[in-house]
Amino acid sequence: MTLLTTWPESGPGTVVRRTADPAEIAAALAPLGVRYEQWPVRAEVPADSDGDTVLAAYREEIDKLNEEEGFATVDVVTLHPDDSPDWPQRASAAREKFLNEHAHDDDDEVRFFVAGAGIFYLHVAAEVHAVYCERSDLLGVPKGTTHWFDMGTNPSFTAIRFFHEEDGWIGNFTGSDIASRFPDFDDIHAAYAQEPDA
Ligand SMILES: [Fe+2]
Repeated sequence: MTLLTTWPESGPGTVVRRTADPAEIAAALAPLGVRYEQWPVRAEVPADSDGDTVLAAYREEIDKLNEEEGFATVDVVTLHPDDSPDWPQRASAAREKFLNEHAHDDDDEVRFFVAGAGIFYLHVAAEVHAVYCERSDLLGVPKGTTHWFDMGTNPSFTAIRFFHEEDGWIGNFTGSDIASRFPDFDDIHAAYAQEPDA
Protein backbone atom coordinates (compact mmCIF):
# COMPACT_ATOMS: atom_id res chain seq x y z
CA MET A 1 0.00 0.00 0.00
CA THR A 2 1.21 3.46 -0.86
CA LEU A 3 1.86 6.02 1.86
CA LEU A 4 2.31 9.78 1.65
CA THR A 5 3.84 11.63 4.59
CA THR A 6 4.30 15.40 4.48
CA TRP A 7 6.44 17.40 6.90
CA PRO A 8 7.60 21.00 7.00
CA GLU A 9 11.07 21.32 5.47
CA SER A 10 12.37 22.31 8.92
CA GLY A 11 12.14 18.70 10.10
CA PRO A 12 9.96 15.66 10.74
CA GLY A 13 8.82 16.70 14.25
CA THR A 14 5.45 17.83 12.90
CA VAL A 15 3.43 15.73 10.47
CA VAL A 16 1.43 17.93 8.10
CA ARG A 17 -0.27 15.04 6.33
CA ARG A 18 -0.15 11.25 6.41
CA THR A 19 -2.41 9.24 4.12
CA ALA A 20 -2.57 5.87 2.41
CA ASP A 21 -5.64 6.81 0.35
CA PRO A 22 -4.64 6.83 -3.35
CA ALA A 23 -7.17 9.56 -4.22
CA GLU A 24 -5.90 11.79 -1.41
CA ILE A 25 -2.31 11.16 -2.44
CA ALA A 26 -3.04 12.07 -6.05
CA ALA A 27 -4.91 15.21 -4.96
CA ALA A 28 -2.10 16.30 -2.64
CA LEU A 29 0.59 15.81 -5.29
CA ALA A 30 -1.25 17.24 -8.30
CA PRO A 31 -0.68 20.91 -7.31
CA LEU A 32 3.06 20.15 -7.29
CA GLY A 33 2.82 18.97 -10.89
CA VAL A 34 3.54 15.44 -9.67
CA ARG A 35 1.65 12.68 -11.40
CA TYR A 36 0.51 9.83 -9.18
CA GLU A 37 -1.66 6.95 -10.36
CA GLN A 38 -2.08 3.22 -9.92
CA TRP A 39 -2.02 0.68 -12.71
CA PRO A 40 -3.57 -2.78 -12.43
CA VAL A 41 -1.52 -5.67 -11.05
CA ARG A 42 -0.65 -8.14 -13.80
CA ALA A 43 -0.56 -11.73 -12.56
CA GLU A 44 1.77 -12.77 -15.37
CA VAL A 45 4.54 -10.53 -14.06
CA PRO A 46 6.34 -12.19 -11.15
CA ALA A 47 8.98 -10.12 -9.35
CA ASP A 48 11.85 -11.83 -11.17
CA SER A 49 10.47 -11.23 -14.69
CA ASP A 50 12.86 -9.96 -17.32
CA GLY A 51 12.46 -6.54 -18.87
CA ASP A 52 10.73 -7.71 -22.04
CA THR A 53 8.09 -9.59 -20.04
CA VAL A 54 7.44 -6.53 -17.89
CA LEU A 55 7.14 -4.19 -20.87
CA ALA A 56 4.87 -6.60 -22.74
CA ALA A 57 2.57 -7.00 -19.74
CA TYR A 58 2.10 -3.23 -19.37
CA ARG A 59 2.17 -2.37 -23.09
CA GLU A 60 -1.27 -0.80 -23.08
CA GLU A 61 -0.59 1.52 -20.12
CA ILE A 62 2.90 2.37 -21.41
CA ASP A 63 1.60 3.31 -24.86
CA LYS A 64 -1.12 5.48 -23.35
CA LEU A 65 1.33 7.30 -21.06
CA ASN A 66 3.85 7.78 -23.87
CA GLU A 67 1.13 9.32 -25.99
CA GLU A 68 0.02 11.66 -23.20
CA GLU A 69 3.49 12.70 -22.04
CA GLY A 70 5.60 12.23 -25.16
CA PHE A 71 8.13 9.83 -23.67
CA ALA A 72 10.58 8.48 -26.22
CA THR A 73 12.39 5.80 -24.23
CA VAL A 74 11.17 3.18 -21.77
CA ASP A 75 13.28 0.64 -19.91
CA VAL A 76 13.14 -1.62 -16.88
CA VAL A 77 15.43 -1.35 -13.88
CA THR A 78 15.55 -4.22 -11.44
CA LEU A 79 17.45 -4.71 -8.20
CA HIS A 80 16.79 -7.54 -5.79
CA PRO A 81 18.92 -9.09 -3.06
CA ASP A 82 20.98 -12.11 -4.07
CA ASP A 83 23.47 -14.42 -2.39
CA SER A 84 26.57 -13.05 -4.06
CA PRO A 85 29.27 -11.79 -1.71
CA ASP A 86 29.28 -8.35 -3.32
CA TRP A 87 25.54 -7.74 -2.77
CA PRO A 88 26.04 -5.43 0.25
CA GLN A 89 28.46 -3.25 -1.72
CA ARG A 90 26.25 -3.20 -4.83
CA ALA A 91 23.20 -2.39 -2.70
CA SER A 92 24.99 0.40 -0.92
CA ALA A 93 26.40 1.87 -4.15
CA ALA A 94 22.97 1.82 -5.80
CA ARG A 95 21.34 3.44 -2.78
CA GLU A 96 23.93 6.19 -2.40
CA LYS A 97 23.59 7.36 -5.98
CA PHE A 98 20.45 9.47 -5.55
CA LEU A 99 20.16 9.54 -1.76
CA ASN A 100 21.05 13.22 -1.54
CA GLU A 101 18.87 16.07 -2.70
CA HIS A 102 19.07 16.77 -6.42
CA ALA A 103 17.02 17.78 -9.44
CA HIS A 104 17.00 16.72 -13.07
CA ASP A 105 16.97 19.82 -15.20
CA ASP A 106 16.43 18.18 -18.57
CA ASP A 107 13.85 15.48 -17.99
CA ASP A 108 11.14 14.26 -15.64
CA GLU A 109 11.77 11.28 -13.36
CA VAL A 110 8.94 8.85 -13.98
CA ARG A 111 8.79 5.40 -12.44
CA PHE A 112 6.21 2.64 -12.38
CA PHE A 113 6.77 0.07 -9.63
CA VAL A 114 6.15 -3.45 -10.90
CA ALA A 115 7.40 -5.02 -7.66
CA GLY A 116 9.13 -4.03 -4.45
CA ALA A 117 9.23 -0.52 -3.03
CA GLY A 118 11.11 2.77 -2.84
CA ILE A 119 10.51 6.25 -1.43
CA PHE A 120 10.62 9.49 -3.38
CA TYR A 121 11.08 12.55 -1.17
CA LEU A 122 9.87 15.71 -2.91
CA HIS A 123 11.14 18.99 -1.49
CA VAL A 124 8.72 21.61 -2.78
CA ALA A 125 7.36 24.90 -1.40
CA ALA A 126 8.89 24.56 2.09
CA GLU A 127 7.57 21.04 2.59
CA VAL A 128 8.95 17.51 2.20
CA HIS A 129 6.61 14.88 0.79
CA ALA A 130 7.73 11.27 1.23
CA VAL A 131 5.92 9.06 -1.26
CA TYR A 132 6.36 5.40 -0.36
CA CYS A 133 5.76 3.65 -3.69
CA GLU A 134 4.94 -0.02 -4.05
CA ARG A 135 3.68 -2.42 -6.71
CA SER A 136 1.20 -0.71 -9.09
CA ASP A 137 2.28 2.86 -8.26
CA LEU A 138 3.31 5.32 -10.95
CA LEU A 139 5.04 8.51 -9.86
CA GLY A 140 6.10 11.31 -12.18
CA VAL A 141 8.45 13.95 -10.75
CA PRO A 142 8.64 16.99 -13.07
CA LYS A 143 12.05 18.17 -14.22
CA GLY A 144 13.55 20.79 -11.95
CA THR A 145 11.80 19.45 -8.82
CA THR A 146 14.23 18.99 -5.92
CA HIS A 147 13.97 15.47 -4.53
CA TRP A 148 15.86 12.41 -3.38
CA PHE A 149 15.18 8.68 -3.58
CA ASP A 150 15.77 6.00 -0.96
CA MET A 151 15.59 2.28 -1.80
CA GLY A 152 16.73 1.23 1.70
CA THR A 153 19.74 -0.73 2.89
CA ASN A 154 18.46 -3.95 1.32
CA PRO A 155 16.92 -2.73 -1.95
CA SER A 156 14.28 -4.78 -3.71
CA PHE A 157 12.32 -3.39 -6.62
CA THR A 158 11.49 -3.70 -10.31
CA ALA A 159 10.47 -0.46 -12.02
CA ILE A 160 9.69 0.83 -15.49
CA ARG A 161 11.45 4.12 -16.30
CA PHE A 162 10.21 6.68 -18.82
CA PHE A 163 12.40 9.26 -20.57
CA HIS A 164 11.88 12.06 -23.05
CA GLU A 165 15.58 12.15 -23.94
CA GLU A 166 17.92 9.23 -24.37
CA ASP A 167 20.70 10.89 -22.37
CA GLY A 168 18.97 13.81 -20.67
CA TRP A 169 18.80 12.32 -17.23
CA ILE A 170 21.51 13.74 -15.02
CA GLY A 171 21.24 14.57 -11.33
CA ASN A 172 22.23 18.08 -10.29
CA PHE A 173 22.93 17.87 -6.58
CA THR A 174 22.02 20.82 -4.37
CA GLY A 175 24.67 20.09 -1.73
CA SER A 176 22.01 20.18 1.00
CA ASP A 177 22.06 17.61 3.81
CA ILE A 178 18.25 17.78 4.16
CA ALA A 179 17.86 14.09 3.27
CA SER A 180 19.74 13.07 6.41
CA ARG A 181 17.26 14.94 8.63
CA PHE A 182 14.18 12.92 7.65
CA PRO A 183 13.16 9.28 8.32
CA ASP A 184 14.78 7.05 5.73
CA PHE A 185 13.33 4.11 3.81
CA ASP A 186 14.21 1.58 6.51
CA ASP A 187 12.52 3.72 9.22
CA ILE A 188 9.32 4.30 7.25
CA HIS A 189 9.15 0.75 5.90
CA ALA A 190 9.55 -0.78 9.38
CA ALA A 191 6.93 1.48 10.97
CA TYR A 192 4.47 1.00 8.13
CA ALA A 193 4.81 -2.80 8.11
CA GLN A 194 3.65 -2.91 11.73
CA GLU A 195 0.37 -1.14 11.06
CA PRO A 196 -2.62 -3.51 11.16
CA ASP A 197 -4.05 -2.66 7.74
CA ALA A 198 -0.75 -2.10 5.91
FE1 LIG B 1 16.24 11.80 -9.19
